[in-house]
Amino acid sequence: MPEFNPLNHPACLQHPVRLAPSTWIEHVPFAMYLVDALRPRVFVELGVYHGVSYCAFCQAVAELGTGTECYGVDTWRGDPQNGFFGDELLEELRRHHDPLYCDFSRLVQSDFDSASGRFADGSVDLLHIDGFHTYEAVRKDFETWLPKMSRRGVVLFHDTHVREQDFGVWKLWDEVKAGYSGRHYEVSFGCGLGLVAVGDEYPEALRALFDSPPEELERIRGYFRQLGRNLETVRELRETAHELQSYKHAQELGAAAAAAYSERLRREHPLLIRASNFLHLCAERGWGGALRLAGEKIRG
Ligand SMILES: C[S@@+](CC[C@H](N)C(=O)[O-])C[C@H]1O[C@@H](n2cnc3c(N)ncnc32)[C@H](O)[C@@H]1O
Repeated sequence: MPEFNPLNHPACLQHPVRLAPSTWIEHVPFAMYLVDALRPRVFVELGVYHGVSYCAFCQAVAELGTGTECYGVDTWRGDPQNGFFGDELLEELRRHHDPLYCDFSRLVQSDFDSASGRFADGSVDLLHIDGFHTYEAVRKDFETWLPKMSRRGVVLFHDTHVREQDFGVWKLWDEVKAGYSGRHYEVSFGCGLGLVAVGDEYPEALRALFDSPPEELERIRGYFRQLGRNLETVRELRETAHELQSYKHAQELGAAAAAAYSERLRREHPLLIRASNFLHLCAERGWGGALRLAGEKIRG
């Protein structure tokens, strides 16, 4: 059995170019490791959203020069668990993705079922399922795409450890593990990620993930967990810095707006200001005093 040695996969230490809202960020180092270990010919992701996971795979493909064809499938309309959104999300992602990865990657705006028709049976080496997470939906995704998987085929499931609301990946994952005994690996952090080799010619490197003794597996998981947490911390720090910057900007805008408004009042309403000054005088000196002073000002 090959030993897992992170030094053989420096790709997983790369800093991701794409950091955006996502619960996936902690798996980015593992995604980069996987591209290195599997060298897939065709990679498909179901559920791209802001592209954190998808762009991590693409970045590894580009940096390692694996020659992988990549396809990210999403309606970019959202779903009941993730919320719904308009065209701006895909437009923003394209601005990031296209200049970096258009040579080998396509963002496919489609539902998962329709997109499956574009792929020949047995052609996909790596599939990441991260769409709508009810048991029924994720099971349908898995069953629809299983015939597309090659003999080297590996499938990833996200959210295998989320048990709230109607999330049901955990249930399908239990069934998958039972069906592919000795050919799966999982982590519980980052909402859980499960990996299963669905073909019988999976790369030898995966044996370290499938067959290592429990203490060695914990060491491997701990390594990826720590790398993933570091990235999550960087993301949080960036978000906080961004919020502080917006707050400072809003303060500056507020101060500038107040100054402009009082200047406008002074220019556009001189009478109003004189009247207000006169009222102040009245309050200080009484009507008589104020009138006398005003008269002196007018005369001289
Ligand atoms: C959890 S998000 C994906 C998260 C992403 N992998 C990341 O790195 O953050 C799920 C995405 O799946 C998409 N989606 C859900 N069901 C779909 C379907 N049947 N066909 C196409 N897209 C779908 C949603 O539009 C949403 O963008």
